[in-house]
Amino acid sequence: MGRKFFVGGNWKCNGTPEEVKKIVSVLNEGQVPSSDVVEVVVSPPFVFLGLVKSSLRPGFHVAAQNCWVKKGGAFTGEISAEMLVNLEIPWVILGHSERRLILNELNEFVGDKVAYALSQGLKVIACVGETLEQREAGSTMDVVAAQTKAIADRVSSWSNIVLAYEPVWAIGTGKVATPAQAQEVHFELRKWLLANTSPEIAAATRIIYGGSVNGANCKELAAQPDVDGFLVGGASLKPEFIDIIKSAE
Ligand code: G3P
Repeated sequence: MGRKFFVGGNWKCNGTPEEVKKIVSVLNEGQVPSSDVVEVVVSPPFVFLGLVKSSLRPGFHVAAQNCWVKKGGAFTGEISAEMLVNLEIPWVILGHSERRLILNELNEFVGDKVAYALSQGLKVIACVGETLEQREAGSTMDVVAAQTKAIADRVSSWSNIVLAYEPVWAIGTGKVATPAQAQEVHFELRKWLLANTSPEIAAATRIIYGGSVNGANCKELAAQPDVDGFLVGGASLKPEFIDIIKSAE
């Protein structure tokens, strides 16, 4: 079964209203492959979700960058999955390394969030990835397997999950993983899914790469058999995001 290429743009904590309008107009004017070939999802900060959703070209969708782990209520500063669903925001990014490392989100907590978001009808971009220290210690696969297990333990269907492999050492550093490094981990993750979920889930789940992807390096990465797309940070704020979308072809 073919896996449709997926390109996500994670805008992180960036953008003024003017900048956001500019990015949207670049996205809306870009010549890109059809939505049969590539699924495009951009993730602005919460406050711009409405603006982006209402002005984005048909076929492109939006994602929130986080949501709360259970039903909303007395959780000051949080945004619940139900709120996103009510506003027809289809996707959410969970488990990004910036939240794992800066805000101390543990594997189990991320797994709980993924399970709750799915239960409410959201689709999830679930992020995993090792630090430089962990890579150098040879524990890359142990780390990403433990992060993936915390999700697998809590969900039965993976049809609304895209798994994003984002090595922390490659994020925002300009040090992109080589195509071989990315392929190696993606292959191992798919093998892990095969051993721990089902052949159908392993074959159908999209595993996308994130970490210093840009217009110049995306083609070679996209050519790897287990790289099913990208989660793009810095370059998703620039016109070269269009080139990254085109790497689906
Ligand atoms: O979620 C995307 C991300 O963390 C990668 O960021 O700026 O290295 O493309 P960047």
